[in-house]
Amino acid sequence: MDDHRSRADELANRYRSVLPSWVKPLYAEPIVVDRGEGSWVYDLGGTRYLDFFGGVLTTMIGHSVPEVTAAVQAQAAKVMHTSTLYLSEPMIELAAEIAAVSGIPDAKVFFTTSGTEANDTALLLATTYRRSNQVLAMRNSYHGRSFSAMSITGHRSWSASSFSGLSVSFVHGGYRLRSPFRDLDDEAYTQACVADLVQIIDMTTSGDVACLIAEPIQGVGGFAVPPDGFFGAMKKELDNHQILFVADEVQTGWGRTGDHFWGYQAHGIVPDILTFAKGVGNGITLAGVVARAEVMDCIQAVSFSTFGGNPLSAAAGRATLRYVLDHDLQGNAKAMGERLRAGLDALVDGTAWLAEARGRGLMQAIEMVHPGTIEPDAARSNAVLEACKAEGLLVGKGGLYGNVIRIAPMLTVTADEIDEGLRALKAAVAASG
Ligand SMILES: Cc1ncc(COP(=O)(O)O)c(C=O)c1O
Repeated sequence: MDDHRSRADELANRYRSVLPSWVKPLYAEPIVVDRGEGSWVYDLGGTRYLDFFGGVLTTMIGHSVPEVTAAVQAQAAKVMHTSTLYLSEPMIELAAEIAAVSGIPDAKVFFTTSGTEANDTALLLATTYRRSNQVLAMRNSYHGRSFSAMSITGHRSWSASSFSGLSVSFVHGGYRLRSPFRDLDDEAYTQACVADLVQIIDMTTSGDVACLIAEPIQGVGGFAVPPDGFFGAMKKELDNHQILFVADEVQTGWGRTGDHFWGYQAHGIVPDILTFAKGVGNGITLAGVVARAEVMDCIQAVSFSTFGGNPLSAAAGRATLRYVLDHDLQGNAKAMGERLRAGLDALVDGTAWLAEARGRGLMQAIEMVHPGTIEPDAARSNAVLEACKAEGLLVGKGGLYGNVIRIAPMLTVTADEIDEGLRALKAAVAASG
């Protein structure tokens, strides 16, 4: 056996023995990623893979981007950590830059170390501001792994516990393919979900609800997209009850959807609170919450996050955000997303076990079912995932039943790379037929 293969097997065994059983690597023979460059990663043996998942949409603008590497190295050589007890230039500058692009008026920013902690903070703000522990969330949602984030996650595979201090009601609408309203047109679908929202408020709460939290496009849920304007219609009803709207932009932020910088902008609204994480540090730990000052400042106790927005993460965040804006990566996400989607639509047309292609920009998915039904076929998505790897393409899996392939190239992806990804995916689908 090759040296690198036996080293990979050894690491896989040690991974399984020393990490929890509920943390799972992809693939029957997991890949050891040794290094990366742009849209490509290389394993220990030098085999190259086209990375269309970016470590779950987190390496957002490509591996080893010189501008980000240089910013991190320069900051590491100066000071790596100071905490919020002292004034950190990178943190303050990044907060101002994020406030400016957030679209939220009079915005303030609080940095955290993960999307989970960002969503916990959003819940803390909303429940304190509204003096209520009642929260609305979407069915098929995913918001993280703390007790409170799991309690607003409408997805059994990711809900390890139901313990929570929140009273949560789940609303229809994020995932149309498996909705009882799926056969309605966009307008009627939206109205049916708004009618459900009204009933949920009237029948399952005492009225004084803190917030509705929603992903504009459900990430873990399989890149499920509601109609444009959907959350605008929901928000009219929320406004009638002074219920805050929280946009979880952990996957949809920074231009990934192509048409917009933030996912919420497809809905003609501005959220009261938004959360971000994953891509903004291009792989360095960085996350946070944006809210208008009146909401952000409602907390009376002192609170801080030790590593939140530390100088190293903030330097990575500033370099990443600058790169996104200077290179119009939102524009690239739109153009490359359309190119990718055209290929996926053609693939779905020719394959009886693909229910649909869906998504927006560089956040696209295909869902596997038994032909002629919407019965999920997770075995087929596993086969496609493995076959993609054999073709040199890394994609993700997801969806309520693990039967969705998620495709999320770097925002810097080129037309040639999209074409190569589509070639590999078509070959994988043919091999899995
Ligand atoms: C939409 C969304 N919110 C929150 C989270 C949690 O983020 P983290 O894993 O950084 O805690 C995730 C992670 O996948 C996510 O996709």
